[in-house]
Amino acid sequence: MPRTSAAGAGRYDLLLLRELGSRLRLRCVDVTVEMLAELDEYLQSEGVTGYSTHLASADGLPFSDHALDYVFTFNACHHFDLPAFLAESRRTLRIGGRMFIYTRTRAQNERGSWGRYFPEFAERETRLYTLGQMAAAVAGTPGLELTGIEEFQYDRVVDMDRLVFQAENHHYSTFKLYDPDEFESAMEHFINNVKSACDDTERIPWRDENIMYVVDRTE
Ligand SMILES: C[S@@+](CC[C@H](N)C(=O)[O-])C[C@H]1O[C@@H](n2cnc3c(N)ncnc32)[C@H](O)[C@@H]1O
Repeated sequence: MPRTSAAGAGRYDLLLLRELGSRLRLRCVDVTVEMLAELDEYLQSEGVTGYSTHLASADGLPFSDHALDYVFTFNACHHFDLPAFLAESRRTLRIGGRMFIYTRTRAQNERGSWGRYFPEFAERETRLYTLGQMAAAVAGTPGLELTGIEEFQYDRVVDMDRLVFQAENHHYSTFKLYDPDEFESAMEHFINNVKSACDDTERIPWRDENIMYVVDRTE
């Protein structure tokens, strides 16, 4: 039975639980009470069980040595102390266990539509890792090996209202790096930039990119 740990509001947890059903015992870790409460509410509303929540930091996982088969993290590793998270994952994974780190690189953040249209979106987001930094961090953790990298490109069509909603509701924590006046001015420029690039603000071509690192515990 796979024993795994993951973090966040539950979208990916739901997919894992639905796909693997009772074969999965999921331990969900997050550093904020609010996020775990949101996760509980979401998963319960979807009628799924088979998971537990744990209030803890990624650099201090509340599991014993070799307790886990897999560690997943989605859109969160840039908030962590990465070397400490990797060391904790290595400690808690069984030998032969595997990590899946889903995130976006700095280059992907720059190339993506937010990076292209929202002023200073890419420049202010200094927490994301380059592919080289991630590879070096894994190589610097004894017992871990980077065994796979997959890049994803999502092409969508969105409307302006949705984009404004996402920015105002901090869909990315990057938006919290602007003070209110800066944010207001950036929003104005953003809307103008999108309008200059696209005539139909009901159907804006949009691109997001992500990357998945697969990391094995080899010893
Ligand atoms: C951008 S959200 C991603 C949530 C979810 N995985 C998703 O993709 O929808 C980042 C999450 O990382 C959590 N987080 C930040 N620092 C953390 C840490 N040191 N240890 C554990 N969780 C942390 C935040 O509380 C937040 O829930």
